[in-house]
Amino acid sequence: TPSNKFLPTPKTVAPKLGVDKGPIHLVQAGLINQVEELGWRVVFDGHHQFEDISPPPNGIQVNPTGDAAVDTLNTSIARLRSPQFVAQVCESVASAVQAHAEMGHLPVTLGGDHSLAMGTISGTLRTYDQACVIWIDAHADINTIHSTDTGNIHGMPLSFLLKLNPPAPSPDSVLAKFDWVSHLPAERLVYIGLRDVDKGEKEILKKHNIKAFSMHEVDRYGIGKVVEMALDYVNPQRDRPIHLSFDVDALDPSVAPSTGTPVRGGLTFREGHYICEAIHETGLLVALDLMEVNPTLADAESVRQTVTVGCSLVRSALGETLL
Ligand code: ARG
Ligand code: MN
Ligand code: MN
Ligand code: MN
Repeated sequence: TPSNKFLPTPKTVAPKLGVDKGPIHLVQAGLINQVEELGWRVVFDGHHQFEDISPPPNGIQVNPTGDAAVDTLNTSIARLRSPQFVAQVCESVASAVQAHAEMGHLPVTLGGDHSLAMGTISGTLRTYDQACVIWIDAHADINTIHSTDTGNIHGMPLSFLLKLNPPAPSPDSVLAKFDWVSHLPAERLVYIGLRDVDKGEKEILKKHNIKAFSMHEVDRYGIGKVVEMALDYVNPQRDRPIHLSFDVDALDPSVAPSTGTPVRGGLTFREGHYICEAIHETGLLVALDLMEVNPTLADAESVRQTVTVGCSLVRSALGETLL
């Protein structure tokens, strides 16, 4: 029997609060028992709230240095929303994921916003330096500190993991708070489900030759072929550990309505589950994220629907089969 560890979620700050309440709904819906039914031994850490890390205020004053490049950088940094808080929470998540991965557990992180993936993926890479990442999302989440329109770090985790941001201008800059993030080489990342990619992000994907299967490719080839192509790209020998980071907003809003940034034209219920089933079948899954379930944004029926589908995605990734 494989052993497993449930890592609960921290709270991060985004304009729409409430995403921190999502994970506990999955647990209350019976996810732990459901996973135990599949033969896993589950250890649940509890709901990480990080009350002890208080978010510092936004809108840091930028003091001109006389160096135009440094001033531009500092202006970009000042636009980030709660960077220090997010960095600290993610660093503690990285340690938790690493600790469990090193014990041979398969960490499952229920989020929480997708900035957390800086932590979960770093935890995976500290344990399995050859790991690859399959990122299921409507969004690319790869804005840099310069390209972001919103300043929301949940739109940026992959720019930190791929080390696309400039180095911190000084050791006391908040940007230095992200220096602990592990490096994921671009060729070990693949996306499925994209359909709302910012202009600046499109340029980043092109410039760094990042492999992405948008909904256009899902329509063209079908999900079976897309998952096969994604694996062939990121894991050609089928020997790399896989970290699956699943943003529930990859699913169509008719399937998963309770999420912060829904985008129409998404994956069907079956397409989402097929991805999880196919990754399980590789036998290479070492870590799983299920992110962006936000129960405060919708009516009770929408929440129930989203939580139910979230639980069943996790079960599929952990080995539930239809027959
Ligand atoms: N691209 C937009 C941004 O940078 C939206 C990102 C949405 N990501 C998410 N995890 N909800 O803000
Ligand atoms: Mn723990
Ligand atoms: Mn995301
Ligand atoms: Mn998303």
